[in-house]
Amino acid sequence: PLSATEQAKKAVGEKVAALVVSGMRLGLGTGSTAAWAIRAIGRRVREEGLQVVGVPTSYAAEQLARAEGIPLVTLADVEELDLAFDGADEVSPALDLIKGRGAAHTREKVVATQARRFVVLVDASKLVHRLGTRCPVPVEVLPMAAAPVMRQLRRMGAEPVLRMGKAKDGPVVTDQGFWVIDAHFPEGIDDPQALAMTLSTIPGVLDHGLFLGMATDVLVGEANGQIRHMQ
Ligand code: A5P
Repeated sequence: PLSATEQAKKAVGEKVAALVVSGMRLGLGTGSTAAWAIRAIGRRVREEGLQVVGVPTSYAAEQLARAEGIPLVTLADVEELDLAFDGADEVSPALDLIKGRGAAHTREKVVATQARRFVVLVDASKLVHRLGTRCPVPVEVLPMAAAPVMRQLRRMGAEPVLRMGKAKDGPVVTDQGFWVIDAHFPEGIDDPQALAMTLSTIPGVLDHGLFLGMATDVLVGEANGQIRHMQ
């Protein structure tokens, strides 16, 4: 049997899958919640002949989508995406996000910016009043720049931690061959916009996990089985 959290993730994943219609070009998100959506879309492709193409946001999403029979394309093949869906690690009342627990935030951000509609799928535990209170901000870096980037983050008031592998010795290596520094802000983030701007200008930083003003919809799976639609 699924836990209450997993039930909530499944519910929002299946909800976004039900919004998909034939002809859509999709962005396929990464993580356990987006996986429920990919599996539900795959089922519709096989059982109803739903015709879609998908751009995956990671090798993980790519492998799952391929196993589910969803035709894959790249951003060179499609002018724009009709709908991208993805999970998140934090969602603020303004629908700003922290993403990247799965180290996929850089590709996720590229894909989300190509979509007319970006639907975020979370269970209620991801909702925060202030960004940074639940999760660090993942910062993807060129390995040779990791030390200076960490020094810079410390000067900015963060507590940076180089993310280490759980199933691997040494640093986590992203799909691009980069490393991830988790920037902790124990008091939360005062000005996410300013932080996002500053992080983007640090040499050696590929991208960070702040997704500001990007979500058009957030589907929240509640403990009582209901789905709340924020937009
Ligand atoms: C991947 O890097 C992340 O941005 C995920 O989208 C995020 O961590 C959500 O994952 P879960 O749905 O498994 O919580």
